[in-house]
Amino acid sequence: MADLDDVKPSKEFYADVPQETEGFFLKGCNSLDWGMKNRLARIFNPKSGNTVMLAFDHGYFMGATTGLERIDITINPLLEYADTLMLTRGILRSLIPAGTEKSIVLRASGGPSILSELSNEGIAVDIEESIRLNVCAMAVQVFIGGEYEKQSIMNMTKLVDLGNRYGIPTLAVTAVGKDMVRDAKYFRLATRICAELGAHYLKTYYVDEGFETVTSSCPVPIVIAGGKKRPELAALKMASNAIQQGANGVDMGRNIFQSDAPAAMLQAVRAVVHDGETPEAAFEIYETLKNEA
Ligand code: 5RP
Repeated sequence: MADLDDVKPSKEFYADVPQETEGFFLKGCNSLDWGMKNRLARIFNPKSGNTVMLAFDHGYFMGATTGLERIDITINPLLEYADTLMLTRGILRSLIPAGTEKSIVLRASGGPSILSELSNEGIAVDIEESIRLNVCAMAVQVFIGGEYEKQSIMNMTKLVDLGNRYGIPTLAVTAVGKDMVRDAKYFRLATRICAELGAHYLKTYYVDEGFETVTSSCPVPIVIAGGKKRPELAALKMASNAIQQGANGVDMGRNIFQSDAPAAMLQAVRAVVHDGETPEAAFEIYETLKNEA
């Protein structure tokens, strides 16, 4: 029975203190539903506003990519240094410990391999599967200007509609064909189309000229892909420039797992993305951690 003797004599309603209505920290995301915001806040760090996503989904069209032959051996020791893991459901189920606290961005498009036309993708995961796997976002490739441009855009809008039903954000990945120009004009076009059609955040490549016009004309957050492996200092400079010019983080793969010291590199990238360290200072962190290891 409830203890009636010990009930506090008076209640405090703080009637003179207005309830605070806080905005959401991510650009363009304030009108999203609570579950959607909560998932985004597990991807993007609410303190820095940025994210370090570790991408190792390359196998979905490239097979056992260099550095990803044995994910249990090369990638699992890195998980602790990432904010978010971007991967396929096959790798998630077979190799990633279910006890992980890392947020998951699930590769949700696929179909063709590197031996065929890459833009001919479809949606490759049911929304129920994304819910079952407790993912924080679904990633879909969009090929603006590619042979199957419209199909890839429709894949994205379908995922956005499905995700909106259950509070799961969609990450649109702007994929560039082999012979296409990678410049600010192209990425302004690609990112804006995806954002206008409902993508909750975007992944694109960094470009040396005019990247700030890509981020400023995109109403939702942008993270950059790492692209092909480059020397560590160059990769850190690219990440730093992207953050200074309005990106909200990185979704990096090869520049991490193909580095001589992947764990050191990932921690150096974190220093740039979350702590605003200069590339040179982050490179020193990389060298120190590499030598310690
Ligand atoms: C594949 C992807 C990859 O996740 C993306 O390219 C990031 O990896 P990297 O930094 O190696 O480019 O989206 O299509």
